[in-house]
Amino acid sequence: DFSTLLFYLTAFFLGSIPFAYLAGRLRGLDIRQHGSGNIGATNAFRVLGPFMGTVVLLLDAGKGAVVALWAITSFGETVAVIAGLAAILGHTFSPFMKFKGGKGVATAAGVVITLIPDIALICVLLFATIVALSKYVSLGSITVAITLPLLAFFFNKPLAYQIFSLATAVFVIYRHIPNIKRLLAGEENSIRRNQSKL
Ligand code: G3P
Repeated sequence: DFSTLLFYLTAFFLGSIPFAYLAGRLRGLDIRQHGSGNIGATNAFRVLGPFMGTVVLLLDAGKGAVVALWAITSFGETVAVIAGLAAILGHTFSPFMKFKGGKGVATAAGVVITLIPDIALICVLLFATIVALSKYVSLGSITVAITLPLLAFFFNKPLAYQIFSLATAVFVIYRHIPNIKRLLAGEENSIRRNQSKL
């Protein structure tokens, strides 16, 4: 009905707030011109430093968490996952950024932490371990994207959450194709500070 549709639109627009871009502007630079060029928490960390990176991570994840929490308390599981996907799509294809955006990992994490916290905990630990060892956030993101739907299936989560996990995984991996190419070529950007132009 109309109110659910309006809610999905709200989720999309909340998701589309480009916090990494705004953080860059605060520091007087266009994050799209630095590091990987991605409008995401990883690149904010890389280009603007750990403090701004953490702020952007919390805000980008917060968008997903707010949408998921709002949805699950007022509507239910199915609406929650559709709204979660809307927020992730908003982050990735932001109307404020000429329909460009990030890769959706932090926003998806906010949704997963809210809806399936036990699985989220495993994913966060796995992600942190891989990033700490490799210094490549993309490697952590891709590994967790593969793991998430497997965990949702084996932990027998509600079907809506299983479908959401699979859809998110496919989407996140699709958004990481350039990263996968760079990883294979040994040219991936590490998390270490780097303000050099693209
Ligand atoms: O969440 C995005 C991360 O996995 C990769 O970011 O800037 O290295 O392409 P980046």
